[in-house]
Amino acid sequence: MPQTVETFVKQRYASAARAPEAKLCCAIPYEPLHLKMLPQEVIDKDYGCGDPSKYLRPGETVLDLGSGSGKICFIAAQIVGPSGRVIGVDMTDDMLEVARRNAPLVAERLGYANVEFCKGRIQDLALDLEKLEADLQANPIQSSESFLAAEARAEELRVTQPLVASDSIDVVVSNCVLNLVDAVAKGKLFGEIFRVLRNGGRAVISDIVSDEPVPEQLQNDPELWSGCISGAFTEAGFLRAFLEAGFYGLQILKRDVAPWQTVEGIEFRSLTVEAFKGKQGDCFERNQAVIYKGPFREVLDDDGHRIERGKRYAVCDKTYQLFKEAPYREFFEFVDPRVEIPLENAQPFDCSRPELRHPKETKGENYHSTSGPNQCCEGGSCP
Ligand SMILES: C[S@@+](CC[C@H](N)C(=O)[O-])C[C@H]1O[C@@H](n2cnc3c(N)ncnc32)[C@H](O)[C@@H]1O
Repeated sequence: MPQTVETFVKQRYASAARAPEAKLCCAIPYEPLHLKMLPQEVIDKDYGCGDPSKYLRPGETVLDLGSGSGKICFIAAQIVGPSGRVIGVDMTDDMLEVARRNAPLVAERLGYANVEFCKGRIQDLALDLEKLEADLQANPIQSSESFLAAEARAEELRVTQPLVASDSIDVVVSNCVLNLVDAVAKGKLFGEIFRVLRNGGRAVISDIVSDEPVPEQLQNDPELWSGCISGAFTEAGFLRAFLEAGFYGLQILKRDVAPWQTVEGIEFRSLTVEAFKGKQGDCFERNQAVIYKGPFREVLDDDGHRIERGKRYAVCDKTYQLFKEAPYREFFEFVDPRVEIPLENAQPFDCSRPELRHPKETKGENYHSTSGPNQCCEGGSCP
């Protein structure tokens, strides 16, 4: 078999699934109450570098990319609870074996089963590798014709029975895996994360990143690649990859101050990033305005809106709704129009209009009311 980055990675993690490899471990302070529910084997075969599970909520549907022995999935299962669901995807049979063997033990301890593990490549989340393997068993490849026919059936599987359907996931998490994916497949990987998330969903990814670009001679070292070094994004490159895939509201949730490893002067450390899906779509005018509260003099969002502190800006309904949610909500004041424009009557938002919204636009041109002082200030003590 030709030795690609992927085959090296698979061999390294197959062996790390059979016996713990200390060199791949990075000590993470997971929540002890969650760890108590996990079999020791799962804890011993942990190769993560962060804890994306901390940012999950009850009831969510979670997809864990490169789930390994299942630790993040089993922690996530406790946070999302019985009304939530967790799917782990991994390409290495030995890792899947460990995770699947331990799943019933965890379910018994929790009193519910909400985790499943699937075989797939995270850069191709539509292709169910076990379904493909069953197909190949029944139709072995013996000629160029049968190879091309198998390719066509794989494509059909992606469309008719996708491993992870489009727009089906609330949160994609991953712990120390994206760096392992082949450089040419990394763009496709971010496209896949975007595809499977529902509108309004988010990715919370922990990974090893570098403070300087990784030079070619280090990239060509398979040991360093499978050891989470060679394929690391730079810190800025990691964020750029989310942006290029169409995400917005990117935020560094955690950046380790101390490097995990330093190689030839380049520091490799753990970073956890959050990114949202949902800025795409039509823009409608509903006479809403936003006021950025500060503390910066101005901000620029991932859709190109430049907003100065303290001024009323006209935004389309889509942006208005996005700003009302995490991660923007706490930074803005929201000015609703005095008379609401129902969405079904709203006109397309005119992007050539002045960026600032005159207060008369939200109150209405015919608004000339005069009134006395308001009853009481919020929380005040007027008699
Ligand atoms: C560093 S380990 C992390 C495992 C787990 N997330 C944890 O926190 O312990 C990387 C895992 O990702 C899997 N993996 C690497 N590249 C993959 C790919 N392209 N598709 C699916 N799984 C992959 C490996 O098999 C391995 O189980």
